[in-house]
Amino acid sequence: MIAFTLNGAAFEIGAPDDTPLIDVVRGKAALTGTKLVCGAGVCGACTVKVDGEAVVSCLTPLANVAGKRVDTIEALGRDRLHPVQKAFMAEDALQCGFCTPGFVVAASAFHDAWRALHGTTRPSDAEIGAALSGHLCRCAAYAAIYRAVASACAGACDGDGVTPTRVDALDKVTGAACYTVDVREAGQLDGLILRSSQAHAVIRSLDLEPARRVPGVRAAVSLLGADKTVRYAGQEIAA
Ligand code: FES
Ligand code: FES
Repeated sequence: MIAFTLNGAAFEIGAPDDTPLIDVVRGKAALTGTKLVCGAGVCGACTVKVDGEAVVSCLTPLANVAGKRVDTIEALGRDRLHPVQKAFMAEDALQCGFCTPGFVVAASAFHDAWRALHGTTRPSDAEIGAALSGHLCRCAAYAAIYRAVASACAGACDGDGVTPTRVDALDKVTGAACYTVDVREAGQLDGLILRSSQAHAVIRSLDLEPARRVPGVRAAVSLLGADKTVRYAGQEIAA
């Protein structure tokens, strides 16, 4: 059993030591504001704070947070929006918003450390870039993200008032926005498409049983290229 504090409350789970923290955060704790994108420490979408430090939860083994404090985007601004959240809303530093929780969590850690050391001095683009270098935004909202972090550090969003530039901004900076990957219904099945690693190859035969025997897999289906035969291995699933 591994115990830690999650968003201020005691949390305990029996899981292997090397379970990625994000699986617990999104799966067991149902805190879907934290996003899984690359799963390899490249994009920063899964960033959470561990004892106040921003870390990628997809590469953090569960055993590493035993006895520590883990805070996700849902805890940030729960009682009062963080200046970085308000700045992202005011500067329109997001589009689809899928990367936004990771950026906001990391930027809030940078902001808090910056303010403690430099007061309301404005950080340079180079300093912001270095702090957020582990984060990718496919919508390329970078210019606005830089503006938002700089203005939050400079104290421009310390007050309560904020004028969001888009209606869904609040949901996206707080992790409340719900995407298709965040939907969990009772009995829901997930599908995974596995494509051939060989471009233009014709697959003449395929044994589906090994895939079928993977724990948790209900069925494996293939559509072979040569004769368009549909192969199926698995349980019959009621419609
Ligand atoms: Fe963790 Fe991309 S999902 S860094
Ligand atoms: Fe869409 Fe960053 S806002 S990926």
